[in-house]
Amino acid sequence: MVNPKDIDFYSLGFNFVETKTMFVSDFKDGKWDEGKLVPFGNIEISPAACVLNYGQGIFEGMKALRAKSGEITLFKPNENGKRFNQSAKRMLMPKYDIDKFIEAIKNVVKANEDYIPPYDSGGALYIRPMLFGNGPMLGVASAKEFKLIIFTAPVGPYFPEGFNGIDLEISKKYTRAAPGGTGSTKTICNYAGTMLPAKEAKSRGFAQILYLDAVNLEFIEEVGAANFFGLINGKLATPRKTGTILEGITRESILELALKKLGIEVEERDISYKELFDESCTEAFCSGTAAVITPIASVSLEGKEKIFNNKAPGEITTKLYEILTGIQRLEIEDEFGWIVKV
Ligand SMILES: Cc1ncc(COP(=O)(O)O)c(C=O)c1O
Repeated sequence: MVNPKDIDFYSLGFNFVETKTMFVSDFKDGKWDEGKLVPFGNIEISPAACVLNYGQGIFEGMKALRAKSGEITLFKPNENGKRFNQSAKRMLMPKYDIDKFIEAIKNVVKANEDYIPPYDSGGALYIRPMLFGNGPMLGVASAKEFKLIIFTAPVGPYFPEGFNGIDLEISKKYTRAAPGGTGSTKTICNYAGTMLPAKEAKSRGFAQILYLDAVNLEFIEEVGAANFFGLINGKLATPRKTGTILEGITRESILELALKKLGIEVEERDISYKELFDESCTEAFCSGTAAVITPIASVSLEGKEKIFNNKAPGEITTKLYEILTGIQRLEIEDEFGWIVKV
């Protein structure tokens, strides 16, 4: 455990920093136990555990923020609870009561309160709920025993670029998810396969990959672990939910903010990567709990590059960022009922 007094909250990136307490609950004999807070630490697991052999595991990503008033906020935790259970269902795992999920989140955050970065640092306490089949399994079938853990880590910006734009490489070599698969599930299986593509893209100077659909290699899916948005012909467009993209909670919120707060028309549709290279696409950004709203400075494909807005954050991108983070940090009234105080 790192002493919170030794953490420089003002220079955090998106790295693991151990905090004091985690929540653990076990599913055995067809039911969940009460769950409890315990010191953060290693767990014992059978080498035959289903998660280790066949990847039966899911997770969520949330943040607790410190507002100027000192209050601690969560953003739409109910939606994370719902998505957690949808992911569990797809991976043949038991669901977890959403009210208990939120209560456990609040308790873990309170227990690790000293690790929440101060308001003016812009950081957050990242919350990682996870659920996995820890029961032993030799054949490919669901475990019978499961473990839920919620741990936290103080974080700064996900991309070191912060609110400066990132350069993305469109990939025609790698895809992330295929129809009928698990692309819209927050399962651990979707992530290991993106590490090599991301490493290769980084070696060429890009922050991440912009994935295309696996069938046509034409329609934009998402950016590593964030959803994609483009301002095209003055409308805010984002890929429709095809089952192959993670249906981001930030994505949903941005669609609502654009429509209701900025009066911009929004579209959930197939977006060809070719549209990004057209003059009609004037801004682009990606969204996620970790990425918040990160402007996209450029996209490149096979030596062809499109630079957005001289690489500066676009006007609509900036407005959406200000409104979203304003609501999250209690600086703008939460007329949507998105904030839950801890
Ligand atoms: C693959 C992927 N896409 C998009 C997102 C953004 O989702 P959300 O806004 O719910 O954080 C995430 C992560 O959180 C993700 O892992």
